[in-house]
Amino acid sequence: MSLKDKLETLQQTALEQIAAAENLKVLDQIRVETLGKKGPITEVLRGMKDLSPEERPQVGAFANEIRDKISQGIEEKKVVLEEAALEATLEEEAIDVTLPGKQVPQGTRHVLTQIMEEIEDIFVGMGYQVVEGNEVESDHYNFERMNLPKDHPARDMQDTFYISEETLIRTHTSPVQARVMEKHDFAKGALRMISPGKVFRRDTDDATHSHQFHQIEGLVVDKNITMADLKGTLEVLMQKMFGADRKIRLRPSYFPFTEPSVEVDVSCFKCGGTGCNVCKHTGWIEILGAGMVHPAVLEMSGIDPEVYSGFAFGLGPDRVAMLRYGVNDIRNFYQNDLRFLSQFKGESQC
Ligand code: DAH
Repeated sequence: MSLKDKLETLQQTALEQIAAAENLKVLDQIRVETLGKKGPITEVLRGMKDLSPEERPQVGAFANEIRDKISQGIEEKKVVLEEAALEATLEEEAIDVTLPGKQVPQGTRHVLTQIMEEIEDIFVGMGYQVVEGNEVESDHYNFERMNLPKDHPARDMQDTFYISEETLIRTHTSPVQARVMEKHDFAKGALRMISPGKVFRRDTDDATHSHQFHQIEGLVVDKNITMADLKGTLEVLMQKMFGADRKIRLRPSYFPFTEPSVEVDVSCFKCGGTGCNVCKHTGWIEILGAGMVHPAVLEMSGIDPEVYSGFAFGLGPDRVAMLRYGVNDIRNFYQNDLRFLSQFKGESQC
């Protein structure tokens, strides 16, 4: 076979291979194999030394022509294959924006948090500050400063978990009263505060008792604070919580830290007072304890009871939630069962 024929066959084979190349890798292989240093064209060019001087330029020009054609064929095919590769990638990575997204389940604030925030809002609207107390408290603040000395029989009702002889987890939010009173500067105005939070008692849990529950403490101290202020304030609270036509009534009671002390009832929000299962057919629902701050409690916090007086109250948000939503077992609030908790969507979600 003449060199020329050899070159022609070579060109044909190469062009066929290029046409058949399915991807860039194969194409590059063809390039190396045909045009590379060890390829057949280079070999032909190397063999030219054996040709006659007349033949040499002709064969040389032809070999170059063929090399250029093959190169061009490779370049053109490369563009086609690159485009196809891009198309394939785009198709593979395509995102269907019309597919529904993954649902992120949205939580709600705990029903008790909702109730406490609702009550906080009512009091903030009346100029109260919201104070956070300590859950781990000293015997001193929890009991002594609340007028419950060591041997006081009323301590029995509030047995709790002791961390040491003098340190416990608080049995009520009342110690916050003492902590706030001893720091208050009356030159800056009246003391008005509420303090919501967890409290703990050594109780056997049942439908109406939990060893951990919540309270909201309220305290107002200033000159000339009277029982009328207490009654008016609690009436507003009850009307905002349970309906504008609610009434309250005060019954005499006893708490060591208030004198006089009262138990506060609200007229039944379900039957309006005629009697039903919610109010146990009495027309009234017992809702909180309150009273005028005991002079000894004021005095222990450095406030002169001859000049200042105050009222205090303790409210149970667990009980408020149970009444309002007809929950008959307090333990529901603490078991973290989403089937229960997700029923209370509230207005604002977290
Ligand atoms: N600390 C009381 C308790 O846990 C509740 C209470 C009653 C608080 C009357 C008060 C109050 O501030 O005046 O049983």
